[in-house]
Amino acid sequence: MKANPTVAIVGATGAVGAEFIGCLEARNFPVGTLKALASARSAGKTVSFRGAPVVIEELTETSFNGVDIALFSAGGSISKKFAPIAVKAGAVVVDNSSAFRMHADVPLVIPEINAVRIKDHKGIIANPNCAAITALVPLWPIHQANRIKRLIIATYQAASGAGAAAMAELSDSTRAYLDGKPYQQTVLPHPYAFNLFSHNTAIDPDTGYNDEETKVIKETRKIFEDDRIAIGVTCVRVPVLRAHSEAITFECEKPITEDEVRALLKDAPGVTLVDDRVKNYFPMPIDASGQGNVLVGRIRKDLSDPSGHSISIFVAADQLLKGAALNAVQIAELV
Ligand code: A2P
Repeated sequence: MKANPTVAIVGATGAVGAEFIGCLEARNFPVGTLKALASARSAGKTVSFRGAPVVIEELTETSFNGVDIALFSAGGSISKKFAPIAVKAGAVVVDNSSAFRMHADVPLVIPEINAVRIKDHKGIIANPNCAAITALVPLWPIHQANRIKRLIIATYQAASGAGAAAMAELSDSTRAYLDGKPYQQTVLPHPYAFNLFSHNTAIDPDTGYNDEETKVIKETRKIFEDDRIAIGVTCVRVPVLRAHSEAITFECEKPITEDEVRALLKDAPGVTLVDDRVKNYFPMPIDASGQGNVLVGRIRKDLSDPSGHSISIFVAADQLLKGAALNAVQIAELV
């Protein structure tokens, strides 16, 4: 890889695209040239990078000539079509969509867990699902010390996971609700203001699980390289702008205590403990937003398991940063 690579952002006008640019700037990524790509609708507009405007170009089959690293976040169908084109042109792709995550020859990487897999790539490296990243960063040090054999997760997922238009729908519908005006949602399937609903992905008619839940199960097993881990998960969209929260209960092979979990997570990479029982202060999306770590708290024994093998925690992380752009830029740094 060149010392100052040409970096393309596919989906530069999107919610994650904007954060790609922010992360490249904040982390002083050694970008030689930045290429901003989006649909024909955005061509000719500009985004700002290091204080200078970058003109957005329409994504086409020739967009990747001369590109060294391409960060994709424009949806699965765009990735499916254009990531192979980018690889053929010589770029390494870090893809934020689900298009390639479960392909056997595509590494699925959370740098704090399996950075070692990056070297196996054949042009594409996949960024995991945001709900999976949020859970797995703090679970990994525990799993290494005392294998997690069963995992139960309930998510409280922000609008940002459905893109910039969904964030705008949350703001606009909330304003309309408070003004007593009618509002017809166009992005998400249900009223969002002062409401919540089961995750807006397709339901598998056999299992009753939605796609988001299935992704969390499959991606956890791939990233942990542990096909035996039993996982139950319920994914819910809540009216929060940009950070996901999750209630997690895990059962380990050997007995485990709250203090052991606290000790394992105290200095764990990518984790910040927010666990103040006296002040009743625990992870909140408002605190998670804009920073890169997974906040972890409410560390306590699962009272439903008297054998002492199970612990419950509550976590929150910025979906647009650690759940998407930051994780991808960390991968690009390692590339
Ligand atoms: P555009 O703004 O031009 O539509 P989000 O995840 O926030 O919804 O953003 C989606 C991103 O994907 C946007 O940058 C959007 O660009 C981009 N995108 C959507 N459709 C296409 C397409 N056909 N070609 C290139 N980029 C696309």
